[in-house]
Amino acid sequence: MTTQSPIAVFDSGEGGLTVLRQARELYPDHDFLYGADSLHFPYGSRPLSEVRDLFLRFLDFFLSRGVQAVVIACNTATAAALDEARRRSPVPVIGVVEAGAQQAAAVSRNRRIGVLSTLATYRSGIYRMAVQARDPTAEVVQRACPDLVTMAEAGETESEAARLAVRACLTDVFRRKVDTVVLGCTHFPHMERIFREEVGDRAAIIDPGLETARRLGRLLPPGGGSGQMEFFTTGDPRRFERITASLWPGIPVQAQRLIWRNGRYEAAALVREEARP
Ligand code: DGL
Repeated sequence: MTTQSPIAVFDSGEGGLTVLRQARELYPDHDFLYGADSLHFPYGSRPLSEVRDLFLRFLDFFLSRGVQAVVIACNTATAAALDEARRRSPVPVIGVVEAGAQQAAAVSRNRRIGVLSTLATYRSGIYRMAVQARDPTAEVVQRACPDLVTMAEAGETESEAARLAVRACLTDVFRRKVDTVVLGCTHFPHMERIFREEVGDRAAIIDPGLETARRLGRLLPPGGGSGQMEFFTTGDPRRFERITASLWPGIPVQAQRLIWRNGRYEAAALVREEARP
């Protein structure tokens, strides 16, 4: 591991790209390695113990690639695995929840904070705990929005159906008079335009990924790599490339498939090479 080692960014699918994009803008000279567990998407409908085990497989993979830091750019995996990952990892691991909760607690005037997330994040109560650790009097109004996750994963971020789904989630939290809305799933900032239009001036919108990307800078030594990005997915690499290109136009994306073999992930290209006589 050197100052030129890549930084790993993880999500169950396309959501973590919203964090990667911010991190790349802030640290253009660093190298990034993005891991998407597309085969097991969505994490939000799985028990936390299962999500933890799935993420830890990726942690091992990232460490085997000599990364200098790991960003769990997935709220669900942060809720499920951050503590365990920190115990196991010799390099810094950061999640997205802490930064988002802290920012929300600081921004909210009326101490009513809406958190939109996956079902698993909702059930974990992690945002409520993190916000109330800062402000015990704050009320956290949670709403699970699994439809939004599925739409964003499919690249459907501008449709009328997406707008209606966003509106339905917001209606529920606005009923409880929140003045701050946390996008508590990294898939949601892909729909940022719709969120801004639907929220208007009724509330502040918090994107925990943005603040997390800023915090990442504190962990990075000066210097960097050559600004490269590598993408790995447990799903179909071509599909991943197609959706990524639509969500992040202009980004050069060539994804490799990860295969689970002998208790660890291997990039498909390597598997093929080893198979040669
Ligand atoms: N993007 C993920 C999050 O921030 C989870 C999406 C999912 O797999 O359900 O929670």
